[in-house]
Amino acid sequence: MGRFTSASILLLWCIIATTSAQVPEYVKSYTRLESAVATGAVCLDGSPPAYAYVEGYGSGSSNWMVYLEGGGWCFSLENCINRSQSFLGSSKYEFIGNTVNFTGILDSDSRYNQYFYNWNKVFVHYCDGSMFTSDIRQVDLSNNLTFRGGRIYNAVMEEMLHEGMGNAHNAILTGSSAGGLSTILHCDRFRALFPNTTRVKCISDSGFFILGEGALANISGRHFAQVIATHQLGALLPKSCTSKRGPNLCLFPEYLVEDVSTPLFLVETAFDLFQIAYNFIFSVPGLGPKQWGDCGKNLAQCNSTKIGIMEDFRSIFLKTLLKLDQSSSRGMFVDSCYLHVHIVRRYTWICSPLLRNRTLEQAIADWYFDRSPFQEIDNNASPQNCPTSLY
Ligand SMILES: *[C@@H]1O[C@H](CO)[C@@H](O)[C@H](O)[C@H]1NC(C)=O
Ligand SMILES: *[C@@H]1O[C@H](CO)[C@@H](O)[C@H](O)[C@H]1NC(C)=O
Ligand SMILES: *[C@@H]1O[C@H](CO)[C@@H](O)[C@H](O)[C@H]1NC(C)=O
Ligand SMILES: *[C@@H]1O[C@H](CO)[C@@H](O)[C@H](O)[C@H]1NC(C)=O
Ligand SMILES: *[C@@H]1O[C@H](CO)[C@@H](O)[C@H](O)[C@H]1NC(C)=O
Ligand SMILES: *[C@@H]1O[C@H](CO)[C@@H](O)[C@H](O)[C@H]1NC(C)=O
Ligand SMILES: *[C@@H]1O[C@H](CO)[C@@H](O)[C@H](O)[C@H]1NC(C)=O
Repeated sequence: MGRFTSASILLLWCIIATTSAQVPEYVKSYTRLESAVATGAVCLDGSPPAYAYVEGYGSGSSNWMVYLEGGGWCFSLENCINRSQSFLGSSKYEFIGNTVNFTGILDSDSRYNQYFYNWNKVFVHYCDGSMFTSDIRQVDLSNNLTFRGGRIYNAVMEEMLHEGMGNAHNAILTGSSAGGLSTILHCDRFRALFPNTTRVKCISDSGFFILGEGALANISGRHFAQVIATHQLGALLPKSCTSKRGPNLCLFPEYLVEDVSTPLFLVETAFDLFQIAYNFIFSVPGLGPKQWGDCGKNLAQCNSTKIGIMEDFRSIFLKTLLKLDQSSSRGMFVDSCYLHVHIVRRYTWICSPLLRNRTLEQAIADWYFDRSPFQEIDNNASPQNCPTSLY
């Protein structure tokens, strides 16, 4: 890691440029979609859905990127009640001024986002806790809870079609974390909004939550089964999956991506901070988030036992990923950074480690614009803090 290569000089330049430039991120307020309430498309607490929109211009004026916000999910009635009283279950709570920072793949500054800076961009607020999928008719009146994520997705897409999205030359559905999983679930349906002459592809960032094996499968399997039960998702998950296996497996990307026919790019790290810190460690006897402690924030705080646990996770994660058929239209950029979420931060978007001599930004652009396929997994078997450990 200490080698002074041209790549490390490039990275150093990149970090200085993205941290010291004092270039403000592009901030935009949310729009509440009041008209959606009549169709029953509402957040957990009954408030209207919300999105933030930045208009495209120049060569990007007929290109559209839709970003589905992430932020976990709720897995029980009590947990959803809690969520409904917070930003991620409502549109009525202020969150950092009720604005969205358009950054990383959403950045409007061409220095930090060469290929997509002038596209139309839509940031869809996540307030249903079900990956934009639930659709329960009955409102839970005693708790004032409404489960309608699927309707929110439809209402926002309809609004964007009104704004002209249907005439796009190029379109991308993307999202990070739970939004990355939402992207996988909605990818083919998004494709169907456009004529076949539109180039439509999906980018899922840090959304490949694995079932895994052994004790991990026990924990992750039970957890997603609870999410499915809470939101009654069984009949709403892709039939291509539920017709072949139990619906409880059909929130796991490892059982979904092979049936996605639209080109899909998976951005991942083999040392995903969230999956390790909130799921994998429960499968290790005597270990929980408490014992994981500051190791969840900073790699330097992880002792050798914990590094070993992370390496065990990596081998299960890569085994799961490599079991997929290697469709050439699927893109893959899997690094060894100890983080979660890559594409919506300046650092991790343009200062990523190089894989096959490409940054993440370059790899995605080459794949998206059909210049070259990209499927690379970093062979570094130890976690690295690169370029930042924030999550
Ligand atoms: C339920 O929540 C909505 C939206 O926040 C609010 O307008 C309504 O008054 C609430 N109803 C009850 C019975 O609390
Ligand atoms: C709900 O929130 C309360 C208060 O913050 C907390 O004590 C409880 O653990 C939460 N329960 C769940 C299931 O999220
Ligand atoms: C947006 O970025 C500014 C500084 O770059 C930061 O202070 C603020 O918290 C960010 N807002 C959100 C919603 O992340
Ligand atoms: C696109 O759709 C049209 C009309 O539905 C069809 O005739 C044409 O073959 C399709 N082209 C491709 C490349 O699929
Ligand atoms: C899964 O969990 C159940 C209940 O806690 C336990 O009985 C079983 O042994 C576990 N299986 C594995 C493979 O860990
Ligand atoms: C690392 O930390 C964990 C939790 O605090 C502890 O159980 C383990 O023994 C430590 N390992 C070493 C090698 O110190
Ligand atoms: C890597 O990319 C850089 C810049 O794109 C280029 O100058 C260099 O020749 C490439 N190196 C290799 C080994 O392909």
